[in-house]
Amino acid sequence: MTQQEFAPPVGEWYYPSEDIVNNAHVPDYEALYREAMADVESFWARRADSLEWYQRWDSVLDSSNAPFFKWFVGGKTNIALNALDRHVKTWRRNKLALIWEGEPGDRRTYSYWKLYREVNKFSNVLKSLGVRKGDRVTIYMGRIPELVMAMLACAKIGAVHSVVYGGFSEQALADRIEDAQSRVIITTDGAWLRGNIVRLKDVVDEAVRRSPVVESVIVVKRTGHEVKMEQGRDYWFHDLVALPIASPICETEVMDAEDPLFILYTSGTTGKPKGILHTHGGYSVYTSTTLQWVFDLKDDDRWWCAADPGWITGHSYIVYSPLILGATSFLYEGAPNFPYPNRWWRMVEEYGITILYTAPTAIRGLMRFGDAWPNRHDLSSLRLLGSVGEPINPEAWRWFHKVIGKERCPIMDTWWQTETGGFMITPMPSVGLKPGSATRPFPGIDVDVVDEHGQSVAAGVDGNLVIKTPWPGMLRTIYGDPERFVAQYWTAYKAQGWYLTGDSARKDEDGYIWIIGRNDDVIKVSGYRLGTAEVESGLVSHPAVAESAVIGVPDEVRGNVIYAYCILRAGFQGNDTLRDQLKEHIRHEVGPIAVPSKIEFVDVLPKTRSGKIMRRVLRARAMGQPEGDLSTLEE
Ligand code: PRX
Repeated sequence: MTQQEFAPPVGEWYYPSEDIVNNAHVPDYEALYREAMADVESFWARRADSLEWYQRWDSVLDSSNAPFFKWFVGGKTNIALNALDRHVKTWRRNKLALIWEGEPGDRRTYSYWKLYREVNKFSNVLKSLGVRKGDRVTIYMGRIPELVMAMLACAKIGAVHSVVYGGFSEQALADRIEDAQSRVIITTDGAWLRGNIVRLKDVVDEAVRRSPVVESVIVVKRTGHEVKMEQGRDYWFHDLVALPIASPICETEVMDAEDPLFILYTSGTTGKPKGILHTHGGYSVYTSTTLQWVFDLKDDDRWWCAADPGWITGHSYIVYSPLILGATSFLYEGAPNFPYPNRWWRMVEEYGITILYTAPTAIRGLMRFGDAWPNRHDLSSLRLLGSVGEPINPEAWRWFHKVIGKERCPIMDTWWQTETGGFMITPMPSVGLKPGSATRPFPGIDVDVVDEHGQSVAAGVDGNLVIKTPWPGMLRTIYGDPERFVAQYWTAYKAQGWYLTGDSARKDEDGYIWIIGRNDDVIKVSGYRLGTAEVESGLVSHPAVAESAVIGVPDEVRGNVIYAYCILRAGFQGNDTLRDQLKEHIRHEVGPIAVPSKIEFVDVLPKTRSGKIMRRVLRARAMGQPEGDLSTLEE
């Protein structure tokens, strides 16, 4: 199986049952899509009206400085007003907001009231360390409730969080701290993963050594192992939260709709990660609308988005939108197959999960263990399933549909990006499904597949996926680098004013969209987004490596794995010991997710005459395929 190679199954359709369609928030996708497109601004204004505002906006969309679009201009809000404050004034006060299970089996639950109070305390702790509106706070934690609280606490006081996924290591963390200029870090002593402790605090210590802008480190105790605490810099959260200053009452900061909510770093074509910036107003409207309609979220649902809060999926669909909708979310700390491959299915049964949203790599990983593990459990509570992060191969789709969903649960294959804030191309429960296709654009979203001149391509032909009009959840800029924002997303189709997604795709005869994959130097490994340049700069930071090139090669479970080619400096021997050292080096510098599965030592790399590495040639060689046109290859 490769992402690019699976052919769309012809004529394979799955229709949701009448019961599902008739009871859905959106029983007629086509009608809603037409209605939205007839007047996009009033459509989004109506959606924004379903939320609370301190002050209503003056204009829905300001395009005067495109592509720096502004939404709900003049509106005053705070995402925490909608995610917490408004619920504690209603019956939802005593509804469960969060159910959490730790990997070792410990459990906690939070009602909206309890979460609200905990977040207020956390906000006061941050204030006591001098965090103010507009300050950036870096969060580096495992999947525990305090991570959710830390994010909300920042939002509440108007600070801008930058969550760095716990699978990144020293240098990656240091780069992100440096770029955001965070003076405060929130972390944990460690995180549980497959029965082991991931020593997050040690990574923070090293990152802070490399990025001296940090003044304070707040440490939440999770694993309880011995960690070094530096006096005057490091504070245990439990000590701070016990102080009188950490009262459970905290005024929510009134924010402009366009004030920044968070920065989330993601990989692009250069080694420097891009700080994608999202704002309070439009993001609240966009994420809550998409979640409510696509996953048909209702008050009696138990929603499980099995992503990590450290990625956009977790930001939008674990933390913010479920809380805005007043839903009950489930969060699990550890590995899906720990201690046994039935861990997830046991939890679905026990907690009565009704909607499970995960990634193709997780589905393929669990599928490998066979049907007996899920079949031991009562999965009848499930009513909808979802997939995100990379194209789902039809085989995994069918398994998920049959073995997990018992052919009852439609699968929402949601295509979107860190940059888009929320789902862009996705089914809803009233849309017929084809395994492997993300189906149709969300109402209000205008997408197309075009050639390099901007002409729509015919059905079945590959092209660039573009978005033609702005939407409220769109990124506002790349933090500190507006030129890169314009160059990266808005220059390829400048004349038309379209957003370039970086994905290639094709449409079929029915107007369904099939995502093929990235057409830039970004690799999806287990659904995680990595830049080839990040791994390459990690490799050349090792004294033995003079030059390197990495490519993504298709893999059964992980979608892609990384192959690295290295030219060594004089005096170094390319052997297995060095291979292991380089892998260890990458594990430390970039993170475990970036470790190449194969490292090959070479004397030269295929380059164009202008010096650009021809990854296409490397990929063809790695896969034993024809190398194609080599006319631009340097001598
Ligand atoms: O290539 C697309 C792929 O993931 C990229 C975005 O990655 P990231 O910003 O990390 O966000 C992932 C979670 C939203 C896209 O450019 N992608 C995401 N979802 C899908 C997908 N490819 C195919 N089908 C999807 N459902």
